[in-house]
Parts: sequence; C-alpha cells; structure tokens
Amino acid sequence: MILCIPQILNLQQLEQFRAQLEGAGAPWVDGRATAGYQGASVKHNRQLDETSALARQLGGAVLAELERNALFISAALPQRVYPPLFNSYEAGMSFGSHVDGAIRRLPGLGQALRTDLSATLFLVAPEEYEGGELVLEGPGGVQRFKLPAGDMVLYPTSARHHVTAVTRGRRLACFFWIQSLVRQVVQREQLFDLDSAIQRLNATGADPDSMVRLVGVYHNLLRAWSEP
Ligand code: NI
Repeated sequence: MILCIPQILNLQQLEQFRAQLEGAGAPWVDGRATAGYQGASVKHNRQLDETSALARQLGGAVLAELERNALFISAALPQRVYPPLFNSYEAGMSFGSHVDGAIRRLPGLGQALRTDLSATLFLVAPEEYEGGELVLEGPGGVQRFKLPAGDMVLYPTSARHHVTAVTRGRRLACFFWIQSLVRQVVQREQLFDLDSAIQRLNATGADPDSMVRLVGVYHNLLRAWSEP
C-alpha cells in the first residue's frame, strides 16, 4: 500500500524548517555517510548530520506531528520510528535505483529497527525545483511522487526506488523508516481498511451495537496480528 498523507507540517512550521535547513550553519554532510554498500555508489546528495542538535530538533518536531496524525497511525501502526533524517538535492544531484536495508540500528541505542515502511516528507513546493521525483519501481510499473510541501508519502520499504536528478532549485525532504506492530503487509492493509470503514460508519451514523462489534473485531485482529 502506498499512501499520501497531507499536511504533516503547516506553513509556519515549513518556514521555520527551511530557515534552519537553508541557513549557513546547517551541518550538511555527504549523503553516502549513511548509505549501505549497494546504495553508496548511486547516492549523490547531502544529508543533515544525524548527530547534530538541528537534526534532533527538527526530527523531534516531525515525530510530535506523527504521534497525533490519525491517518499515519492507522496506516502504519508504528511500533518504532527511526529518528527522522533530512536530505538535500541541489542541481546535478540524484539517487539511483536501490533498495533500503531491512534493518537499521537506532543511533545511540544499538537496538534494531526492521524497516517495514518508508516515509518521505516533502519540505519544498514542487514548483520551486525541477526534477527530484521519488520514483517507486513496482512490478506493475513506476509511480512518481513530487508532493506539495508538508505532505508525506508512505510506502513499503521492500519497493525498489530512486530519486530523479534535480536540474534546478533545491529539493529538501525529511525521510525515515517505520517498524510496524503488524509485520505482514496483507494484515496491515486489512486493518487499515477496516479502521477506515469504522471511522466512516461512525461519522455517518451506524447502529451502536454493530459499531461495538466491529470495533471489537478490529482490536481482536490487532491483538492477534501485532508483535510488540
Ligand atoms: Ni532509499
């Protein structure tokens, strides 16, 4: 399942993020610092030093928004979220076709995080730069994403993907991985579908007893399928 979630960050937050990321003091490093063996040869971008105070501050602000985003929680059923990272593509930069590693170590904790889902949160309006599309290479064809500033795409980390070259302007984005409580994609999708239907029934006035039964089914499936 690929899902676009609108307005994770509002205009005011985006302005603050950009002022800091575009500021002279922002600690940008070569993106290859965090790439795996296969990714390093095709990765040409810059990344905010993930140990910096700025990365922690902005990442924390993104996490705070995710924690109260009902659509994100329903779709991802997050167990652990990797501290958000930030990247920058300027003219001539791109990230060739690759797959993300299955396991990441949480910085400072040494704990493993299984990458079930990937997220890219766009920080710059699409008309401000040329190129810089996130392209997911599915078996049935490619899907391209270049979302409005503040919007985020959530996709299975198993998908091969690339970022097309930026030819004008600067593409700033936030990205991270999620380990879901529900490992199996089919089960996670069923829960999301069921939860979405329940929300809709709730809003349109279903009979109360049926609602309780449906909500019970949802939670019993979640209990059976989650693996914290
Ligand atoms: Ni990637």
